[in-house]
Amino acid sequence: MNRTLKDSYGRSIRDLRVSLTDRCNFRCFYCLPHGEPPIAPKEQMLSYEEIEYVCAIFVELGIEKLRLTGGEPMMRRDIETIIQKLVKLKVPVAPLSDKLQLVDHARDTLPSVDDKLKFVGLLDLALTTNGYFLPDRAAGLKAAGLDRITISLDSLKRDTFKQMTGVDVLDRVLAGIEAAKNAGLQPIKINAVIVRGHNEDEVADFAAFAREHDVKMRFIEFMPLDSGHEWSRGDVVSGREIRERISARFPLTPLKVERGSETSTRYLFADGAPGEIGIIAPVTEAFCGACSRIRLTADGQIRTCLFSTVEHSLRDVIRGGATRDEIIEYIEGVVMKKEPRHYINDPAFVAPSRSMSFIGG
Ligand code: GTP
Ligand code: 5AD
Ligand code: SF4
Repeated sequence: MNRTLKDSYGRSIRDLRVSLTDRCNFRCFYCLPHGEPPIAPKEQMLSYEEIEYVCAIFVELGIEKLRLTGGEPMMRRDIETIIQKLVKLKVPVAPLSDKLQLVDHARDTLPSVDDKLKFVGLLDLALTTNGYFLPDRAAGLKAAGLDRITISLDSLKRDTFKQMTGVDVLDRVLAGIEAAKNAGLQPIKINAVIVRGHNEDEVADFAAFAREHDVKMRFIEFMPLDSGHEWSRGDVVSGREIRERISARFPLTPLKVERGSETSTRYLFADGAPGEIGIIAPVTEAFCGACSRIRLTADGQIRTCLFSTVEHSLRDVIRGGATRDEIIEYIEGVVMKKEPRHYINDPAFVAPSRSMSFIGG
């Protein structure tokens, strides 16, 4: 087997993000500030059977890492069912040999490395969520086979959290993080989008949170992916400033790992405290040259870049009765059209019409 999806710039595509729904119960101003967008009619959404079918094909084509996203993925009914199906794409085989080269991004996330098992096919099944449903459902997600989880948390202050997300549920999300930890959905990553005038004063407090709770805290530059198209350069707090704000309270040591296609640059606390810092700086330190990602929207469109202005309807292809080989040919052709990079910093930049809630973080 061992196929690889390659784009026209020689990048290997190993990472597929599948949006399960474009609905969300939050109203984060950097994503969906003006309320619920029109929801695609149910018949336009991929069914779980269709998602399972295409994911199996993607894995056959070399996808090693699947991330379920939204909107808020847990707004879709019974996501445990699709997790149970997708986890079957992870096939354990022989004991881990010294020679085994795990892909860089999976090396420290694979829970099974401890078990000295090697997988072929899918290596890693993760979920990005706003955390709201986790207090009741984290254990069930783990039982269904989910490996790990990324939870958004934009403020540690009740008022700022409410103002940034549109909902007054900070305590519930904190309980969700605790529930995910207790369920063993490790490593837990916490995402905070840092926006000028909103939460840049909390950067060092988030670092303290990472130390106290032993989580990977990631700081993300605000990108022009808000449905209100209100992003402006002045709102962006650069990765560099974030680093400086943290280092002023907690000196950091760069983690000595090959970055590969990772979005974040990673740091440990110099004093050896638990937790980790990741800085995701797509605006000021773009990482497109090593991009390994493609996305599948809830309504079955392949997006080859977060900032794509065109989409490719895999849904129409599969519903049009294409054979498996024809579907493979279609996917390979679409991947060849992957954009070289984003153009956020070019004067002629045009923001994509769909916000992150449609595209899937
Ligand atoms: P893992 O390595 O699987 O944990 O994924 P990740 O590090 O890519 O993290 P995650 O999927 O949580 O993405 C974190 C954030 O980085 C997203 O919410 C986006 O804001 C940003 N991001 C992720 N992928 C891309 C990308 O391809 N391009 C850009 N510009 N930003 C991205
Ligand atoms: N800029 C940066 N990150 C964003 N996200 C959503 N919208 C934006 C944006 N405009 C990220 C948040 C959330 C994830 C799903 O997507 O980090 O955690
Ligand atoms: Fe990849 Fe596009 Fe993100 Fe750049 S902006 S890293 S090309 S998805």
